[in-house]
This record gives sequence, C-alpha cells and structure tokens, in this order.
Amino acid sequence: MRSIDIIAHRGASAICPENTMAAFERSLQLGATGIETDVQLSSDGRLVLIHDETLSRTAGTEGWVKDKSVEELRSLDAGTWFHAHFAVERIPSLDELFDLVRGKNILLNLELKNGMVSYKGMEEKIIKAVRDWDMEQQVILSSFNHASLVKCKRLAPEIRTALLYMEKLYRPYDYAAKLEASALHPYKLAVTQEEVASALAQGIATHPFTVNDPVEMLALINMGVQGIITDVPDVLAALTAVHTR
Ligand code: G3P
Ligand code: CA
Repeated sequence: MRSIDIIAHRGASAICPENTMAAFERSLQLGATGIETDVQLSSDGRLVLIHDETLSRTAGTEGWVKDKSVEELRSLDAGTWFHAHFAVERIPSLDELFDLVRGKNILLNLELKNGMVSYKGMEEKIIKAVRDWDMEQQVILSSFNHASLVKCKRLAPEIRTALLYMEKLYRPYDYAAKLEASALHPYKLAVTQEEVASALAQGIATHPFTVNDPVEMLALINMGVQGIITDVPDVLAALTAVHTR
C-alpha cells in the first residue's frame, strides 16, 4: 500500500474557522496525517498562526498582524466570522500547536508568511522554537519566499524545507535540489507526472495545494505525489483508504 500524507490546510478549514485550535484538533479527528498553517510575527516578536497579513477577514478588526502585540491579538475573536458557535476561538500561538501535535505521528507544515511583510528575524525565531520543542523531525518549513527558505536551511540543515509556487517552473526538482529543499509544494495545476517522478528520483517529495475535489485528488495520487494539502482531510482519508491499497 502506498500511503499519501493527508495535510490539513489551515486545519479542517472547510468546517472550522481556519488556523484555530478547533480546526487543528478537528483535522486530526478526521484522519489528517499532517497539518499546514501560516506563521506570522506580532509587534512584540511572538509567533502566531493566521493566514492574512491583515485582521479584517478572520479576526473581526482592522489593522495588520505586525502592528499588534500578542496580547492584543489574543484578545480578538478568530471564530465568529465563520460561525457564532466558534466565538471562543483565538489566534493560536505556535507553541499551542506544537503542544497539540508533539509526539504524535503528524507532519507539521509551517508556512512562513513573509512575502508581503518581511518579518525580520522570523527564521531564527521559528528554528529556535522547533528546536526547543524537539520537533525537528516533524516539521517542514515552506514559503513562497525561497530566499527565506535558503536562510532557514543555512541556519538549520536538519529541518526540512519545501518550495511553494503557483506557476509552472522549469525543472523544479533541480531547483529544489540546488536549494537543498526536501519537497515541492506546487499549486495543483502546476504538477506533472514527469516532474513528480524526477523529483522523487532525487529524494524530493511533491505535496500539491489546495485540492478539495476527489477527482483531482485521485488524479494527483495517480501522478505519484507523496501528499496532498487539502481543506477536507476526511475526503482525502476516505479516498486513500480505497485507492492506495
Ligand atoms: O501551503 C499551501 C498553501 O497554504 C499556500 O497558499 O495562500 O493558502 O497560504 P495559502
Ligand atoms: Ca498556507
């Protein structure tokens, strides 16, 4: 049986408010074998989990994550935008998520959200946190900012990195090898079977995002990908139970 990593995108974000503890916990109950989340820095330098650089869509207020202290961020309601039932949800710290998954056989994909905002010192802080929690084997760091991933690799050769990209690249596996990345995280339409095979031949995994349609999931599984990033981990878990045996 070939196993596929079921990587819950922002947690079980189809049925819970994304990037909350409720979403992370639910994803594990639904069969996720991995969790993807987005990491940013508060104004006082704390690592927090939220996708947008601004707070209006998921935290009910105006302004930027980078301009609020962790205490201010923790006071915000990160659940009501999704449903009143989730009004108790807060913007989690990275430590809370580490506490949930540490010691479990769960892959933790931390996306450094440092494209629009550069977040000076973010790489050092994430690496220190990963090492403090002894999570080096469980974590894979990803970003659309590939220079940041190279910096991470120089600082922590023992922690895996993954290149995020939207558009097709020329020989992405060679590029990944040059950057000493362990995985490609392409947009789902940028994947080809030949590239998946060529990546694997160099020991590089392919984990496309964000795939919620079972037909698309199956096509990617048949292309040979090692994992899929999805908002619906239960759908992928059911599919892999049937099709990878
Ligand atoms: O890591 C895959 C995916 O999360 C990248 O895009 O915008 O959902 O963070 P985005
Ligand atoms: Ca992300």
